[in-house]
Amino acid sequence: MNASTHYRTHNCGELTEKDIDKEVIICGWVAKVRDFGGLTFVDIRDRYGITQLAFNIETNEALCLKARGLGREYVVQAKGKVIERSNKNKNIATGDIEIEVNDLQILNESITPPFTIENDTDGGEELRMKYRYLDIRRPILNERLVTRAKVIKAMRAYLDERNFTEIETPVLIKSTPEGARDFLVPSRMQPGNFYALPQSPQILKQLLMVAGMDRYYQVVKCYRDEDFRGDRQPEFTQLDCEMSFVNQEDVLQTFEGLTKYVFKEIKNIDLPDIIRLPYADAIKYYGSDKPDLRFDCKIIDIDALDAIKNNTFPLFQNASSAKHIVAAIVAKGCVAMSRKQTDELVDYVKMPNRGLSGLIQVKVNEDGTIKSTIDKFMNEVQLQEIVQAVQAEKGDLILIAVEKESKVRKALGDLRLELAKKQNWIDKDKWSLLWIVDFPLFELDEETGAIIFVHHPFCNIHPDDVAYFDSDPLKCRAQQYDLVINGAECLSGSIRIHNKELQDKVFQKLGFSEAEKDERFGFMVNAFQYGAPPHGGCAFGVDRWVALLTGADVIRDVIAFPKNNSGRDLMMDAPSVVDPKQLKELGINIQ
Ligand code: AMO
Repeated sequence: MNASTHYRTHNCGELTEKDIDKEVIICGWVAKVRDFGGLTFVDIRDRYGITQLAFNIETNEALCLKARGLGREYVVQAKGKVIERSNKNKNIATGDIEIEVNDLQILNESITPPFTIENDTDGGEELRMKYRYLDIRRPILNERLVTRAKVIKAMRAYLDERNFTEIETPVLIKSTPEGARDFLVPSRMQPGNFYALPQSPQILKQLLMVAGMDRYYQVVKCYRDEDFRGDRQPEFTQLDCEMSFVNQEDVLQTFEGLTKYVFKEIKNIDLPDIIRLPYADAIKYYGSDKPDLRFDCKIIDIDALDAIKNNTFPLFQNASSAKHIVAAIVAKGCVAMSRKQTDELVDYVKMPNRGLSGLIQVKVNEDGTIKSTIDKFMNEVQLQEIVQAVQAEKGDLILIAVEKESKVRKALGDLRLELAKKQNWIDKDKWSLLWIVDFPLFELDEETGAIIFVHHPFCNIHPDDVAYFDSDPLKCRAQQYDLVINGAECLSGSIRIHNKELQDKVFQKLGFSEAEKDERFGFMVNAFQYGAPPHGGCAFGVDRWVALLTGADVIRDVIAFPKNNSGRDLMMDAPSVVDPKQLKELGINIQ
């Protein structure tokens, strides 16, 4: 190739009718070769689109034969003239034109790829993760990565306009308490000592407030050694933010503004104001602190009805002495479910993580008659009372649970999601955004019965609940908030404690000894003696945001090089064993 010519004048997605008769050079990967005897067409692809190259055996035999010999994923450069296509393809941007090629260079050959590089690929997930660089060539994936960059750019633009400064914090730090296990990095210089990778820059951003930086943000990797699943990766990205001299309302408004800005920039959607739901109501009505409100189906307590209170059905009769509650959900339009389908719902709530003993079913038939699975214990009046209380209509199926409150709420909350999935209740074009506010400050560890923090130990107490701190700490709410989008927790934050005495009291309540507190948080407690301003903030889960905005089912699909569900990088084959010499240097023996 002539050193003075550029590799390309255009990309594979931009030539249209307006360019007809132009002499162009384009480069890309061979997606398809179609040979029609006299004519040969080659589709070449890059991340901008696909362009058709045309070769004619009559006008240039050698060139046409070269084109026929191209293999899938060869990298080529084609020079030629843009001409109008006789057979137009309205489905692609370049579908009106093709290139009448007069020079074709093979820039690189490719061995046959292990799966087809198309959105609708024949490659399974494991294979695609092993060859992630080929997977990313698929338009759907490279578009998601482009959208990811646009989301982050929009976030930065919004914050830069509002005096936030992006500040990097270190990756090798001391273990910080965020509720998950740390990834540890052994120190060679100080054998037996370890750095931890940050679960988040929580303490560091608070120290930046003590340092007077006023408004901080960072697009930052966080590392947590926990069980992985569709919306959790061992390393993930946060947009981490902190502000000084703010109350909860200031923070909610700032980041609601950011949320609206991103939706407008990326989806051209004007979001309405985001509703706020107290944590206690989220649990009461939806059995979850991240309810999906794209469909209704609330949990309705029915223990106070005469039909339940005065019923001889043993589960109802014993409910109050067993400290059980009776609650229902209405499966809209599900009266015609088969026995097999309702059995599946019963099995679903009986699974060990939900632990109900079953479901009582009340059917409101289309002809107005009402039938229940405990007809022996229910007369017409009682059935009517239940139907009215839950506002069921003809065609609905009422599902009733009796158990301890936490179990009933969790099981019915899960069941409403399961029904929505099975019955296609969710309109994919609909968005549900809500702030969950007033989280509890503490909860009890189910195994040990000890008091533990709900979010992290730096959340401030709700101003109305300070009086309970000593007498009834579990009653204290925190100034903590989450942003939930379509049932996914996409942001979490709080107003922090900025007063050393209160922070000390919280550490005490959490059972940290003086020595432990000094060892783990000494540097922070010290800093708080030098004039810490009131401050608060939050962190967005960037991967979850991008997955929602691009319609990806799992966050792996919006991360360039993700780990699988066992935490493995299948492409690099990590984690892996290391050279014994490296271990020796670190003073580590593998048991
Ligand atoms: P939190 O732990 O709630 O808060 O994290 C903030 C947000 O990050 C996302 N997220 C994850 N995304 C993918 N994989 C994971 N393993 C994962 N874990 C969390 C979620 C979550 O809402 N320092 C505090 C924030 C603060 O108080 O300012 C924190 O890290 O979307």
